[in-house]
Amino acid sequence: MILLNPGPVCTSERVRNALIRGDMCHRETEFSTLLSSTRKKILQAFAPNGDYTTAIITGSGTASLEAAVCSSLSEGKKILVLNNGVYGDRISRIASAYRFNKIELQYDWCEQPNLEQVEDTVSNDSDIEVVAMVHHETTTGLLNPIHEIGKITSKYGRAFLLDSISGLGGEEIDLVLDNVDICIGSANKCIQGLPGLSFAILKKDEINRLRSIPPRSLYLNIITQLDEQEGKGECPFTPSVHTFYAFEEALDELLEEGVQNRLKRYSKASSYLRDEFKGLSLDLLLPDEFLSNTITSLHLPENMTYAHLHDSLKERGFIIYAGQGQLSKKIFRIANMGELSMEDLKSLITNLQKVLEGRK
Ligand SMILES: Cc1ncc(COP(=O)(O)O)c(C=O)c1O
Repeated sequence: MILLNPGPVCTSERVRNALIRGDMCHRETEFSTLLSSTRKKILQAFAPNGDYTTAIITGSGTASLEAAVCSSLSEGKKILVLNNGVYGDRISRIASAYRFNKIELQYDWCEQPNLEQVEDTVSNDSDIEVVAMVHHETTTGLLNPIHEIGKITSKYGRAFLLDSISGLGGEEIDLVLDNVDICIGSANKCIQGLPGLSFAILKKDEINRLRSIPPRSLYLNIITQLDEQEGKGECPFTPSVHTFYAFEEALDELLEEGVQNRLKRYSKASSYLRDEFKGLSLDLLLPDEFLSNTITSLHLPENMTYAHLHDSLKERGFIIYAGQGQLSKKIFRIANMGELSMEDLKSLITNLQKVLEGRK
């Protein structure tokens, strides 16, 4: 199957083979070595200047996101959530689950946050300690203005928490220049590893503030995770050891390809697909200026249900992805993350054309 869903993605044989390297006790020095080199490679790829550290958590992206959110707000302070999709909404729901004092700015799913409104909100409320946003809204494939939001948080001395789960390895980001304090990623999207591991990249200057916040969760506490990993070279709880092998291999692949080259590969793939989609008279949901390198949301063709489109393409070996929530009956999504060749994409277009024309 050629996976065109936004993760878990198609992986290389090299990554999949890493899973069968053998059993290992997570309390032995061999695992400490694996943990340390995996953490080092995350930082080499995404924070090469040394001002950041990282903690890896066994769990999907939401595990690290929840850990970051619940570990980042001081008692009596507020979190500002910028919500323009399912994943912005997820941050908001996490904040509510912890009974946080929350301000939420909601936007249309096809719009970026209003910068003036964000600045007004932040500047008028000194209790806002953390501003949280999604980098690449997987709901639609919309890129949010991380640089501009980082400028605002830095100007007013607030922490910037960014969910870049579908951004890291696929989109431009410079944690330093974009003033990101806490950045969340996952192994199984643009990094092309396997599902089961996620991570938080933390600005070193932010650690003391985080350390002063009493833990609200035993497992999902960023400082507990970080201290055990940095101090003892261990994970506090049983890690998914075999997935670590695959994650390190995927990071090796990323570093060998080069992060910028990975972005270029994805950008070339999405440009190719979008030209072809337009040629097939399919309409894109978003205007060009918001488009990411890796997800294209398309209006469903008239007189065709998602189920028919999905099932017909699945019969031909391609997995596409449905719209979510309010968009579930209107759009479908094609992601070009992962180990996909141009031949795979050309074959998708040939098959999509046949399905649209009702041909065998
Ligand atoms: C932007 C974003 N945030 C969070 C998540 C949740 O990640 P997971 O499903 O791995 O928990 C996803 C998953 O697609 C995502 O795209």
